[in-house]
Amino acid sequence: SDSKLAYSVGVTLDRFIKMKQDDFPFASGELSQLLRDIGLAAKIVNRETNRAGLANIAGAFGNTNIQGEEQQKLDVIANIRFTRALTKGGEVCAIVSEEDDEVIDLQNSSGKYVVAIDPLDGSSNIDVNISIGTIFSIYRRVTPVGSPIQPEDIMQPGRNQVAAGYVLYGSSTMLVYTTGHGVNGFTYEASLGEFFLSHPDMKAPQNGKIYSINEGTYNHFEPGLREYLENCKKLEYSARYIGSLVADFHRNLLKGGIYIYPATTKSPSGKLRLLYEANALAFIAEQAGASAIDGEERILDIQPSSLHQRTPLYIGSIEMVKEVGALIKKRR
Ligand code: AHG
Ligand code: MN
Ligand code: MN
Ligand code: MN
Repeated sequence: SDSKLAYSVGVTLDRFIKMKQDDFPFASGELSQLLRDIGLAAKIVNRETNRAGLANIAGAFGNTNIQGEEQQKLDVIANIRFTRALTKGGEVCAIVSEEDDEVIDLQNSSGKYVVAIDPLDGSSNIDVNISIGTIFSIYRRVTPVGSPIQPEDIMQPGRNQVAAGYVLYGSSTMLVYTTGHGVNGFTYEASLGEFFLSHPDMKAPQNGKIYSINEGTYNHFEPGLREYLENCKKLEYSARYIGSLVADFHRNLLKGGIYIYPATTKSPSGKLRLLYEANALAFIAEQAGASAIDGEERILDIQPSSLHQRTPLYIGSIEMVKEVGALIKKRR
């Protein structure tokens, strides 16, 4: 019965957040409430995702976003759901979203937190029923609460994150997050409407035999990267590329592996966005004993200069990231 199921699968996300709040002696519970708000939005988007094909919410929305991408309906729906949940929650003063050209100023004079979000990651996979995700980063604003939002509240390096996480709408729906005290994974039990702790204290293998990269633009990769990929092939590693960053990242975190989205001539700074893709996953990676660089420096040390700026991303098992970084440096 459901009650037995609930008991047997252990602690819920809400109870875990409450338990872990003790890690923050000064926390007045706003961050906990913010994480709960994100959990709620994830449940709502999960339901929309699971019925996209039936409820005529698959397909293109008919807009092109600031990224130059054709927005999918689910991109827009997920963006509305998350921004609404964060607005209602009351802890957030500003939101940076992949789907909004400018910063969303919530005019919330008591909001302490800034959230950067990719509401729907892997949009090209929505209509073909392949796993997709949501990625979020949480910062504390640096200017006084109640004063107008300033650029320095938004343009913070990834090392300033107070929390980060992702939702993976896959064969099961998971929420994985960190507040700087390790990484914990929760699996959604739809019949109970709850996320339950399923992957406590996640740690990435130091090394791996899986590499994830879109080799379509191989001819435009720099020499050190091409050498690294040749080594992977000599060692007969597995090539696994889903086209949804969250799904590729999650598999590599659990099994060991590296995900690479390099600079190419077409996209000289790579495709992935620093504020709401690379920074969040880099924080999680480092908290799980893995690593994330842009080809030479630590992702979390990059000082952002523009809202939607892109960065090359090499992220995953620490030995693999070290190796590709050394080859890139040697061949530059
Ligand atoms: P988004 O759907 O949020 O725009 O992100 C898509 C990203 C990432 O999820 C994925 O790994 C990558 O784009 C795939 O890019 P390519 O199709 O160029 O390989
Ligand atoms: Mn997109
Ligand atoms: Mn994305
Ligand atoms: Mn997206």
